[in-house]
Order: sequence, then structure tokens, then C-alpha cells
Amino acid sequence: MGQKLEEVVVVDVVRTAFGRAGEKGLFWKTRADDLVIPLLKALLERNPKVTVDMIEDNIWGATNQIGEQGGTLGRMVSMLADWGHEVPGCSVDRMCAGGLTAVSFGVTHIAAGMADCLIAGGVEHMGHLPMGYMRNPHPRAIEAMGGESALNMGMTAENIHLRFPEFTKEMADQYAVQCQQKADKAINAGKMKDMIIPVEVELEDGTRMVADKDQPPRPSTNMEGLATLKTPFRENGNVTAGNASGLNDGACAVLLMNESRARELDLKPKMRWVASAVAAVDPTIMGIAPVPATEKVLKKAGLSMDDMDIIEMNEAFAVQALYCLDRLGLKWDDPRVNRWGGAIAYGHPLASSGPRLVAFLAGLFKEKPEARYGLTTMCVGRGQGYSVIWENLQH
Ligand SMILES: CC(C)(COP(=O)(O)OP(=O)(O)OC[C@H]1O[C@@H](n2cnc3c(N)ncnc32)[C@H](O)[C@@H]1OP(=O)(O)O)[C@@H](O)C(=O)NCCC(=O)NCCS
Repeated sequence: MGQKLEEVVVVDVVRTAFGRAGEKGLFWKTRADDLVIPLLKALLERNPKVTVDMIEDNIWGATNQIGEQGGTLGRMVSMLADWGHEVPGCSVDRMCAGGLTAVSFGVTHIAAGMADCLIAGGVEHMGHLPMGYMRNPHPRAIEAMGGESALNMGMTAENIHLRFPEFTKEMADQYAVQCQQKADKAINAGKMKDMIIPVEVELEDGTRMVADKDQPPRPSTNMEGLATLKTPFRENGNVTAGNASGLNDGACAVLLMNESRARELDLKPKMRWVASAVAAVDPTIMGIAPVPATEKVLKKAGLSMDDMDIIEMNEAFAVQALYCLDRLGLKWDDPRVNRWGGAIAYGHPLASSGPRLVAFLAGLFKEKPEARYGLTTMCVGRGQGYSVIWENLQH
């Protein structure tokens, strides 16, 4: 049975603002599922030709699938959005790439003809469900992964500094400053407005507000300030709160569709899926994994790094981004990379970050209609990398 694959497009992508995890965070009194529901509603409001009965699946990435992120969140949220009982859904976990995996799984469902239209996304409330919360690793897990540091992401970043000392703390700090500056410029230019769906929240002190701006960016970041920060993962180490992504809450959702169906409905798709690839590496230096994942996805697509006009790389830590850029043949300040800044500024609510890269790429494609191909890529705890190539349709 030689079945032809369908072309798959991103029709729309929306996210919540990202908050700092914890009591001072925007979403301290908001549940993870209550971050997802407004996104589902917004996708249909923004695309009135798409109706609930067309949504054939709702695939959500979440790392900690317990508490408010448990119980098959992907199925529950459509009912909580008052979409009735007929929208199926599921949840997937590939830690930081949970959302990007959900998007790729959604793509394959549509490409294989299992669905014409679905929603895929990622959510993480690191304030309510911190990293590692209620996890029970196998007694042989540490041995199998090659050392205790594999369980602590900050230590895996310190390991990259140790193993590849050409990437210094000064370079990591410089990268972080650049990231904050790019984010500040993009935010002030209104680049986040189209993708952020305002959510009404209650704060710790009982006041209510509309969360419509990212909380983590620190535009005043400078080299002098960064030099004074503690290195919490290793004594006299290199990784600090300033050159790492933070602990955050947020959600991001992508509306995917069969391209022919989208054209029939006269929708204006933003980008077309080209190829996805996942690769795995030594978990104690998990941050290097976007390199093999990207090499693999480029091979699948028959393209090279030179063909990538826009690159969205999740910066879990500055050092791993520096390593990956270098090994992929890019300069640390290549203008194609994270033009609007990255996770060091905006934050990294684990599973929501992959779809956030998709949102940024869609926005950047619009801004740069001459761009043809774009890459979204990220590293994953336990030593994985996930890369997806997209083609711009916003000419
Ligand atoms: C690094 C980490 C431990 C810091 O956590 P934290 O201590 O709660 O972070 P904070 O935001 O409170 O920052 C710590 C200090 O650095 C300061 N700081 C943070 N960013 C700064 C910046 N850009 N410039 C100047 N100071 C900064 C804060 O003001 C704070 O100072 P204070 O202690 O005087 O209040 C945490 O963000 C972390 O674990 N990050 C990695 C997350 C991760 O592993 N994700 C998965 C990736 S695979």
C-alpha cells in the first residue's frame, strides 16, 4: 500500500506570556490547564473558519504529567474549553521537547491521513510542578546515564564548560547579554503582541491583572552584573542564573492542518513542515544534542545549514547554545539565530518551549518574506536533541 503523504501546514500559533515560577510569578495562582484553555479558544476565535468539529486531536507535551498536568491533559482541556465531548486528545513527554514532539506527532498524523486538522502544543508549570518533582528514578538510572550530573541540567551545562573549555564563562555571559538585548528590542517593537493571548490572573497578594507580557526578560543585564552572580551548580563554576534559562510557567499551542484542506478553507498558512529528526547523546552533556539532531534533519530534507534563513535554537544554557552554533558552523552572533532573543531572556517552561520556537519562526517568516527555510531546534534532558525544518509560506 503505497500511500502518498499529505503536506502539513501551520495555520496559527499562540502562547501565553511566560511567567517566573514561584510565588512572585504571574501564574502562581493559575493552574497549568488554565493556561492551555485560553489558547484553544483563541485559536478558534482567530480562525473562525476552523470549527470545533474539525479538531481531530489535541496533542499536548508536558514534562511532569502529574497533578494539574496529569490525567491526559490533552483530552481534558478541550472539554474544559466547553468544546463538548467529541474532541480526542492525549499527552506526550519528551521533557523540554515534549511540545515540539507533540507538533511533530501532529504533523505525522496529518501527513499519514489520520487527521486533517488538529492542535498540538506544550505546557509547563514549573512553579507548581518543579523539575524532578515526584520522580522515582530506577536504582540503576545514574549508572545507566553515566553519572549523577545527568540528573541535574545545570550540571550538564557545567560539564560542557569542563569538556570544551574553549567556551568560556565570559563568552556565555556575552551571549546572555546579547540575548537580553535582542529580546528587549523585539518586545519594544511589539513583536510578541500577535502571539501572546492575554490571560486574566490572580496574583499572590490577591490582586487581579491581565498577563500579556513576558515576565522573565531582564533588559538591564550587563557583563558587570553577570560577573557577580553565584554559580549554583558547581563551586567556582561558569553557569549562573544570568547565562541559563530560568524556571518558568507558560503554554504554547499550534494549529496544524492538511495544506489542501487549509487552501479549501481559504486560510493563509504560515509555514509548511519539511522534516523532523530526533537524536540522542551522552546525557551528562545533554546540551550538545541539537547538533546531531540538526545534522540528521538536514540530511532528511536534502538541505544544508546555508539553506536555513532563520534559526530558532532553544537556549537552555548559553554554553550549550555556543557549542551547538560552533559545531553547526555558525558564529555565536549569526544574525539568523534567535533574532528576537531566546530562552535565556524569555524563559524556558520546558515542554512549551518547542512550540514557542515555532511561534517565533512563524513571526520571523512574516517579517522576512524572502526567507525560505527555517530551523527549530532544542536540547532535552537525559540527552536528546530535536530539530524540525519548516518552509515559509508568507510571501
Ligand atoms: C540557575 C537557577 C538555579 C537560578 O535560579 P534562581 O536562583 O531561582 O534565579 P533568580 O532569578 O532568583 O536569580 C538569582 C540571582 O541572580 C540575579 N540575576 C538573574 N539573572 C540576572 C541577570 N540577567 N542579570 C543580573 N542579575 C541576574 C537575580 O536577581 C538573583 O539575585 P538575588 O539572589 O540577589 O535576588 C535556575 O534558573 C535554573 O535552575 N535554571 C536552569 C533551568 C533548567 O535546568 N531548565 C532545563 C534546561 S534543560
